[in-house]
Amino acid sequence: MAIKVAVIGAGAMGGGITQTCAQNHIRVSISDVSREAVIGTMDKISRNLDRQVHKKIIDADARARILSYINPADTLEQAIHGSDIIIEAIPEKSEFKLELFGRLGSMTDPGVVLASNTSSISITALGAESGDPGRVVGMHFMNPVPVMRLVEVVRGLETSDDTVQNVMEFSTELGKTPILVNDSPGFVSNRVLAPMINEAAFVLMEGVADLQAIDQVMTLGMNHPIGPLALADLIGIDVLLSILEVLHKELGEDRYRPCPLLRKYVAAGWLGRKTGKGFYEYPE
Ligand code: CAA
Repeated sequence: MAIKVAVIGAGAMGGGITQTCAQNHIRVSISDVSREAVIGTMDKISRNLDRQVHKKIIDADARARILSYINPADTLEQAIHGSDIIIEAIPEKSEFKLELFGRLGSMTDPGVVLASNTSSISITALGAESGDPGRVVGMHFMNPVPVMRLVEVVRGLETSDDTVQNVMEFSTELGKTPILVNDSPGFVSNRVLAPMINEAAFVLMEGVADLQAIDQVMTLGMNHPIGPLALADLIGIDVLLSILEVLHKELGEDRYRPCPLLRKYVAAGWLGRKTGKGFYEYPE
């Protein structure tokens, strides 16, 4: 029987996961506490598909078919109804995620997989909160989701083998390569990536080099597709700060201390691409 997915949270990640499901012929519902966010995400997906039509990657029929796989739901209940896999992609705040997993645990049948796209919050803690940790797992997608090949699959302390196998297979159906890691702050991706970007912010703050120079050292010298500070803007400086706070608190080492410049930018509302300004400026 065809699988059905529900995505909770209509930000950049939730929208990207939704588009990726639909492009792979998987029925997907998307919901958010903000109706405007769902409308905005549907609009963004349509524009992404328009670009693909324009580039002759897909034709107009395929575009219509992809959109027909997506159900923009009005409520959480509507979105999760009949779903086999629920993917949470709400803001990176542990209190929000814990509360949602508590609700999802009691609202869903024992066969439903509860996945989180968290970039650093404990899958084991989300599992415990759900009351049914065997079916809670991390599915950590990368931004922009339709383009990036990895899904970091995170096994919590009590995640069952069946759940892990299900999401490994599902990730492959999405055209991604799943890599299995154990639950630990920041998993592998952000344990390695976030300190590198943080160091780049310290280097900028200390005046070792200017913005462009730091990014160019990493693009030209290390073949990174974009520099660390441009990547901070893509990820969202608020998201990056949350990740570093988790690493610093949970691992307790000074080397994870968030650069004060990140806090200053977040306080100013300079969150990166999504607000039009971060380390760089993004005119409309
Ligand atoms: N949504 C959908 N498709 C997108 C997209 C988006 N937001 N942005 C770009 N694309 C597509 C383009 O349509 C294009 O597709 P085609 O090749 O089919 O035409 C392709 O991606 C390449 O795009 P561009 O030519 O416009 O731009 P580019 O060559 O500069 O590549 C990029 C853009 C792929 C984002 C590249 O800059 C890159 O790889 N950057 C690094 C991204 C990265 O590291 N992501 C991981 C962040 S960490 C994370 O997400 C996890 C976390 O927990 C923080």
